[in-house]
Amino acid sequence: MKNFMITAFLIILALVFYLGDQYGFGEKASLPVDHEQEGLNEQIVLNFSHVVAENTPKGLTAAKFAELVEEKTDGAIKVEIYPNSMLYSDGEELNALQNGDVQMIAPSFSKVTDWIPEWQVLDLPYLFQTNEDIQAVFTGPTKDRLLRMLDKHNVKGLAFWNNGFKQFTTATDSVIKPQDLEGLTLRTMPSDMLVRQLNLVGAETKEASFDQVYTLLEDGQFDGQENTLSNIYSKGFYQVQKQMTITNHGILGYAVMINGEFWDSLPKNLQTAITDAMEEATAWNLKQSEAMNRQALKKMEDMPGFHIRTLSETEQLEWREAFEPLYNYYESHYGKKLLREIEQTVKE
Ligand code: LMR
Repeated sequence: MKNFMITAFLIILALVFYLGDQYGFGEKASLPVDHEQEGLNEQIVLNFSHVVAENTPKGLTAAKFAELVEEKTDGAIKVEIYPNSMLYSDGEELNALQNGDVQMIAPSFSKVTDWIPEWQVLDLPYLFQTNEDIQAVFTGPTKDRLLRMLDKHNVKGLAFWNNGFKQFTTATDSVIKPQDLEGLTLRTMPSDMLVRQLNLVGAETKEASFDQVYTLLEDGQFDGQENTLSNIYSKGFYQVQKQMTITNHGILGYAVMINGEFWDSLPKNLQTAITDAMEEATAWNLKQSEAMNRQALKKMEDMPGFHIRTLSETEQLEWREAFEPLYNYYESHYGKKLLREIEQTVKE
């Protein structure tokens, strides 16, 4: 009887392993296929993974892009979007793209600075004053120069999308001066410039991927973080923070990229359709993102227990001065050329 039980147990165990291998249990979710669609075999599926909510500048622009691609290719390409780190968290998505496990991603440029340290220029506080400044740089010749730097990583850069200006949220009562961040532990994205920015005003920093931020704030492992209004609202950070200071100190933008081999495998007419769709979607993004952030702010203004403080011009000047040494740091490590080019573009 005992032998029978052991044999039965081993057979069941072997069956579980066999089925697991066949159906990929324990692996990342396999990508769904719509088996009812016409011409399935000829259709090219382009999987686009990102980490934010659907009702954000990146989420909505990705949806617009998908619609435009399908329209412009007469359905020859289907863009499947996976939001909210469903497929890959932001620590995983660059490798997934490089390996061709996913065809498109749009990480914030800060998260690409490990590959391209020069991109830290975009993280310099107060480099951009208005939405028009961002638009000018994200559509001008500097954009092309920056995106070409991706070529050597088996990735083709298609565009820069904007989210908006970043603000600080904290679990403390009131952050008005830069020194009010002293001693707090703040979450950062993986960018040396962002870490330096916070260390400069006496804050401790810890890196964390976007999908973990809410829980880490809730658990009190972080006292605060910096992000755009639409991200703070759509991820509910206001529920686990006491206040937000409207500093507009930096910007959050995205490098939209496609796997190099996938791109090269596409016929010319489909490449053109993707480029056209991207141009249209980007123009829409650069126009709409400001309004989306304004709407998010309006919604948070009514949240009980969440205090919003907007800096006066004099108060903002103190933050600018506090962050000024970062410009010298950037120039001495990465040269003046890119920085001057951007400063010139935003001045025009
Ligand atoms: C963050 O990690 O805070 C942002 O980069 C998330 C995003 O993609 O907007």
